[in-house]
Amino acid sequence: MKLTRKDFPEDFIFGTATSSYQIEGHAFGSAGRTHWDDYAATPGNVSRAEDGGRACDHYHRYPEDLDLVAAAGFDAYRFSISWARVLPDGRGAVNAEGLDYYDRLTDAMLERGLAPYATLYHWELPSALADLGGWRNGDIGDWFADYTEIVMTRLGDRMATVAPINEPWCVAWLSHFMGLQAPGIRDIRAAARAMHHVLLAHGRATQVMRGLGMDGLGGVFNLEWSNPADDSEASRLAAARYDGIYNRWFMGGVFKGEYPAIVLEGLEPHLPSGWQDDMALISQPLDWCGINYYTRKNIAADPRAPWPSLADVPGVLPKTYMDWEIYPEGLHDFLIRTAREYTGDLPLYVTENGMAAHDDIMAGECRDPHRIDYYEKHLSQVARAIAGGAPVKGYFAWSLLDNYEWSFGYDKRFGLVHVDFDTLARTPKGSYHAMKAALTEAGR
Ligand code: FCB
Repeated sequence: MKLTRKDFPEDFIFGTATSSYQIEGHAFGSAGRTHWDDYAATPGNVSRAEDGGRACDHYHRYPEDLDLVAAAGFDAYRFSISWARVLPDGRGAVNAEGLDYYDRLTDAMLERGLAPYATLYHWELPSALADLGGWRNGDIGDWFADYTEIVMTRLGDRMATVAPINEPWCVAWLSHFMGLQAPGIRDIRAAARAMHHVLLAHGRATQVMRGLGMDGLGGVFNLEWSNPADDSEASRLAAARYDGIYNRWFMGGVFKGEYPAIVLEGLEPHLPSGWQDDMALISQPLDWCGINYYTRKNIAADPRAPWPSLADVPGVLPKTYMDWEIYPEGLHDFLIRTAREYTGDLPLYVTENGMAAHDDIMAGECRDPHRIDYYEKHLSQVARAIAGGAPVKGYFAWSLLDNYEWSFGYDKRFGLVHVDFDTLARTPKGSYHAMKAALTEAGR
């Protein structure tokens, strides 16, 4: 990689990110069932109906995996805690094995000099709570607050940062309007409720952690640049609506205490009554803001479809194996826009960025120059945003390991480290070695 640590401020944090269900092996350690287990067991939802039962077996192999993180010269490790591993039914009895596991994992990070960046919810809702309506049920704010208290009473003294929820758009819209992730619902009323309750849960968890005396609390948002597919006024408006639903709803709620009018015009009739009363809780002060960034979308209007009446038009840029256009400038533009319009001086982190490819091992090596190029281009945009005044304090590569890529199963490989899903052997890819060279003297 052409860029190295030296191209960033001295205290800039480099890390890599993972999530519990995608790597741990949910069948181990007496964890409870999640809605992803149910979704994957339903024909047609997930490639080859794969689930996270074994995944990368990080549950048992975490020392080896954290050794890889440390050896690459990363400063921090972004991981998530599985609600159903800690509380198999989502509420009530605690699974001591689960809490002990996260305790060991935390200490293992600290022993290796890695700062723990935790997320409390990266998508695996306990099935018992899904039975009660999951994110559609307003009680989820309290369920999530109780879970947060249990986890952070045990771990909170050792966390560098905590974000309650990973990517609220995916939790709410992708899963309850588009139906493309668990629980696979396609219903505007369910979606509107999830859009609000996910932020309510963020607010309740933040409140609980402040009560425990914690700081380093933030939020992690996935942003997708919304590009009008052509010059027409209709496409411009459609792209603004997409931007509203995807990006501005969550940022607006959390950093301004208000939802954008362009989205309320469609969702307001379906929101739970009294939603306005939650906005102060939702917008309580945070210590940082995390941005997950991968791609852009080209949006046109679809006047025949009901609100939001959007059409997704294939773009012309080179694409990753996810079929996502590679658009590094969007990362720069989002960092600048977020600071300017929402967060001011608050520290920003790129909490996820990376690409999927079809990476094979040949002669014992996994070469992925495409991924090195992707990282290089996006890191350059981060450096450009810093030069332009955005207070970006760190960057996390998604992901450490090839893993369970949700409805795509194990086919889409995002890792710096290749995983053979038969033998579970780990093989650092070319991109891992390139990162190591950029981050350490030893790697050069
Ligand atoms: C993000 C998710 C992460 C992974 C990457 C590719 O939206 O947070 O779990 O699926 O996309």
